[in-house]
Amino acid sequence: MNRIEVVQGDITQQKVEAIVNAANESLLGGGGVDGAIHRAAGPQLLEECRALGGCPTGQCKVSKGYRLPAKWVIHTVGPIWGGGTHREAESLASCYRNCLETAVKNGIKTIAFPSISTGAYGFPVQQAAQIASAEIQDFLAQDRQIEKVRMVCFDAPTLGTYRTAFGLQ
Ligand code: APR
Repeated sequence: MNRIEVVQGDITQQKVEAIVNAANESLLGGGGVDGAIHRAAGPQLLEECRALGGCPTGQCKVSKGYRLPAKWVIHTVGPIWGGGTHREAESLASCYRNCLETAVKNGIKTIAFPSISTGAYGFPVQQAAQIASAEIQDFLAQDRQIEKVRMVCFDAPTLGTYRTAFGLQ
């Protein structure tokens, strides 16, 4: 468990090798985390994302971090909450799993996640936190390369929900 941290903060300021962006399928920017990451990284990020050709829900693509402290941004697209009958849970789980698998493939050892899908995409925070906790802990149980996974929550209520889900309080 000590490879997992759950903190409150701004993901654009995290000093890790890769931060995960909660993007949309166009990968052409947006609000929330997506907007913050593009603002902090600078215009070259959008330039590179244009060439990535979008990303399906549940999957992820990698770009450089440019002006961010992080060297890489792993852009993932979480599910839009539709009531829970459209395999939203499975899609969210695959976001976490695919980002971790992609990190390992790229030799990345430290990675920070935001609370994917729980903002504009409306995914219930408690269920999202349970999914994140299960996927991250399952992955780390069979991987030795990743040294640090940091969940970065933007507000106190989200922090409390994720700390509970990760068994930290
Ligand atoms: N650092 C960390 N977390 C943040 C930050 C930040 N700088 N800004 C926002 N958040 C939090 C939100 O408070 C929320 O808990 O990230 C979580 C995810 O919220 P969104 O950014 O709205 O992401 P999501 O719900 O996945 O919706 C994605 O919104 O911004 C658009 O282009 C994006 O269309 C996509 C959609």
